[in-house]
Amino acid sequence: MSRVALVTGGTRGIGRAISIALRDAGYRVAANYAGNDDAARQFTEETGIPHFKWSVADYDACVEGAGKVEAELGPIDVLVNNAGITRDAMFHKMTPEQWKEVIDTNLSGIFNMTHPIWPGMRERKFGRVINISSINGQKGQAGQANYSAAKAGDLGFTKALAQEGARFGITVNAICPGYIATEMVKAVPENVLKERILPQIAVGRLGEPEEIARCVVFLAADDAGFITGSTISANGGQYFI
Ligand code: CAA
Repeated sequence: MSRVALVTGGTRGIGRAISIALRDAGYRVAANYAGNDDAARQFTEETGIPHFKWSVADYDACVEGAGKVEAELGPIDVLVNNAGITRDAMFHKMTPEQWKEVIDTNLSGIFNMTHPIWPGMRERKFGRVINISSINGQKGQAGQANYSAAKAGDLGFTKALAQEGARFGITVNAICPGYIATEMVKAVPENVLKERILPQIAVGRLGEPEEIARCVVFLAADDAGFITGSTISANGGQYFI
């Protein structure tokens, strides 16, 4: 029986590429999403991967959503915490709502989603938790005090939980994508992207979602059990850590 993977934010952007790559690697995949029904419907039509709607910012919804996925596909072996949002603003203009929305989704979201799935992974003595953090959690980014704080928090969470999961055969790792050609990055003002960001990327281009997906497939594998608490930086040489 093939393993089951749940990808949050799995119908668009990097998450879409992750869902497809895991399916192609033989996993039974469930793709979660929160908002865009049309995109989710189209995703399922095109890929055959089922979609499940709930917000990772809502703990009770995560408990219910994980239960639904497990009832339909079986116990979740691989959890990819990919769902994320931006609410960019220079700090002096950032509102408490912009702070809270990003923390709730990008940081609390990985607690909310991992917590209900964790006990089953412990019982079955196998699990793969893969957290999609960001280059901006590593280096910080002007205009993203909220996002950088949340994504740095995701890395602390990863390292702490890796220590707890190790004796149960559960690995917990993070991937830090750089600037990837998705709607999220395309929302950055063109002049900022061209003048400030692209010149920092050594390979001279944005990354592709598939270039992140291949890191996920690597970490999800049964024979990746010696890799835990680690961070893969996939950023085109923009930042070395
Ligand atoms: N460092 C220092 N100062 C900066 C700066 C930087 N990187 N970028 C802008 N500034 C300065 C500007 O020079 C400007 O100064 P002056 O007023 O003295 O000219 C001031 O800050 C305000 O800048 P803007 O005119 O750009 O301000 P704005 O309010 O119109 O826009 C912003 C602010 C929305 C944050 C915009 O600058 C922006 O979108 N920046 C990009 C942020 C970014 O990289 N987001 C990543 C999104 S993708 C993602 O998050 C995925 C991932 O994981 C990588």
